[in-house]
Amino acid sequence: MENIYRAVEVSAPGTLRVVERTILEPGAGQVRIRVEACGICHTDAATVSGTYPGLTLPRVPGHEVVGRVEALGNGVSKWKIGQRVGVGLIAGEDGVCEPCRRGDMVNCQNPVVSGVTTDGGYAEVMIAEARALASVPDELTSAEAAPLLCAGITTYNALRNAGSRGGDLVAVQGVGGLGHLGIQFARHMGFRTVAIGRGREKEQLAKDLGAHIYIDTAAEDAAAVLQRMGGARAILATGTSGDAMGSLVPGLAANGKLIVVGVPQDQIHLNAFPLVFGGRSIHGSLTGTPIDGEDTLAFSVLENIRPMIETVPLEHAADAYARMMQGKARFRMVLLTKNGGAQSASVK
Ligand SMILES: NC(=O)c1ccc[n+]([C@@H]2O[C@H](COP(=O)([O-])OP(=O)(O)OC[C@H]3O[C@@H](n4cnc5c(N)ncnc54)[C@H](OP(=O)(O)O)[C@@H]3O)[C@@H](O)[C@H]2O)c1
Ligand SMILES: [Zn+2]
Ligand SMILES: [Zn+2]
Repeated sequence: MENIYRAVEVSAPGTLRVVERTILEPGAGQVRIRVEACGICHTDAATVSGTYPGLTLPRVPGHEVVGRVEALGNGVSKWKIGQRVGVGLIAGEDGVCEPCRRGDMVNCQNPVVSGVTTDGGYAEVMIAEARALASVPDELTSAEAAPLLCAGITTYNALRNAGSRGGDLVAVQGVGGLGHLGIQFARHMGFRTVAIGRGREKEQLAKDLGAHIYIDTAAEDAAAVLQRMGGARAILATGTSGDAMGSLVPGLAANGKLIVVGVPQDQIHLNAFPLVFGGRSIHGSLTGTPIDGEDTLAFSVLENIRPMIETVPLEHAADAYARMMQGKARFRMVLLTKNGGAQSASVK
């Protein structure tokens, strides 16, 4: 076996470049994964721009990773060589901070974060904590499973934990990597599903994904339309604009919830009136645990939900990342390594 592998690292803020690295042995409690596919999430921008708190460069981004276990560190018994597994963003808790001691591992104060505190999945090989792995079912290809491990788990978990009931009016703001999965999950969870986007271009796609209704914010006030429909029990805000989120609160029904999963750079401006009069609320939701990831994959198999993806070879990561940042991806760019079926002939 070759002792080098190819990876795409952020060498300086804004620069993604292909490098060769030496293959390392996994430490205690870790596994080495031969990566097959890795999705490009908008959160990767915080690694590429060098702005994620605590990040040091160079760093390999990527936290929607699927591959096969090829080496086990000491003490790893649950996983087998050759088994197909996935890794998401929050990829290991310290087990000792207060949230961890309360069983709230996602909010660990000192977590392993793929592509931030440790090298991620824009690579042929990745070392991961064994406790962070999700088992990937045979029904999903690696390219299909990868986006479900961040975009999928984030929207699935936020929706299933929102307390809404079948038939409730639930809106998904933003029809991107997260949003296009959120629409499918909302529809398959039995909600009256509204997609909120900018312009008419994504209307048909949103309806094809399961939205009963599409609101174009370029032409209509989304909050007013939702109120005319009786008000939303929950709005899942996946976009990258704080302005767009705050203006949705008046579209909630009494006791409705705005669930923030997008992480805009700008502020979310809120008016207290609709919060107080009607008991509306706003809260954030961060991805999920490895077992939540397995639940996401299982629900996707059960309901035949798949991400809509565009695949490119790993070595074209910079172009694929740029396409995502320009809002051109429909709807998730997924990097394939030669193990995941990418053609080595296209490698430059
Ligand atoms: N909470 C978590 O655990 C978690 C996990 C993953 C990602 N995220 C965050 O979620 C956000 C979305 O990630 P993604 O991968 O889905 O990104 P993406 O595929 O690039 O999609 C971006 C989305 O933002 C929307 N948007 C962009 N500019 C907007 C504006 N001015 N007004 C309204 N909407 C706007 C787009 O809406 P249109 O459809 O209208 O174009 C699109 O739906 C990012 O901030 C990312 O960091 C959070
Ligand atoms: Zn912790
Ligand atoms: Zn992500």
